[in-house]
Amino acid sequence: DEVLHPPAYAWEHIGPFQKFDARAIRRGYEVYKNVCSSCHSMKFLHYRNLVGVAFTEDEAKILAADTEVEDGPNDEGEMFTRPGRLSDKFPDPYANEEAARYANNGALPPDLSCVVKAREAKEDYIFALLTGYRDPPDGVVVREGLHYNPYFTGGGIAMARALYDGGVDYDDGTPATTSQMAKDVSVFLTWASNPEHDVKKQWGSHMLMTLAVFTPFIIWFKRFRFSPYK
Ligand code: HEM
Repeated sequence: DEVLHPPAYAWEHIGPFQKFDARAIRRGYEVYKNVCSSCHSMKFLHYRNLVGVAFTEDEAKILAADTEVEDGPNDEGEMFTRPGRLSDKFPDPYANEEAARYANNGALPPDLSCVVKAREAKEDYIFALLTGYRDPPDGVVVREGLHYNPYFTGGGIAMARALYDGGVDYDDGTPATTSQMAKDVSVFLTWASNPEHDVKKQWGSHMLMTLAVFTPFIIWFKRFRFSPYK
């Protein structure tokens, strides 16, 4: 089957000294929460991971407290539900794989924690996939229950188009066009797959700056030290 390769988009975080756009991560979380989280888990993310990245500690506590977590057993040996805390992971949309498949026509929505690392074209693929829904070309028949998307291998994907203009109400007032939401959620998912990204680049640039400062001295010292032998 033909599959379209996604274009390389001009992400702000691409480049040796570029950091993630924190506002995009924040908006991307809003998209995940309001649209994707009804089908996709992110089992490696905890509310505390958002603190200092896209939300303040108080904001993240409120987001966590908005969820219900099953806990227990308590002193009486009973399970109970309580509001979520920073140490809780993002809630799963389904109780188990069977329930997930049942709700999705047999298909399994993958966990999105590491999906950006798992797909070859990374964030370019996520953006292209989310914005790539269209009518199939003449002669292409999509199996019942599938949706045409040229970026998905095989062309027929069990996930329907999820993003439509106005799909979320952004906190910061950014107009929620389809492509804006696709971009923001792609940045959010890229961060989730690579939370160490900014720190790595920062260390890299510190190392380069340190080398730049010391290299002339090292060269001078080497010449000085070896000058009697010349
Ligand atoms: C698959 C992202 C919303 C159901 C996927 C994949 C990604 C993704 C990256 C993997 C595609 C691949 O395997 O290469 C998202 C994002 C969403 C979203 C970012 C929100 C903007 C939803 C919603 C549903 C859903 C709301 C359910 C109504 C599925 C299913 C699959 C899937 C069933 C498996 C498709 C297949 O294997 O044919 N999604 N999704 N997704 N998603 Fe979503």
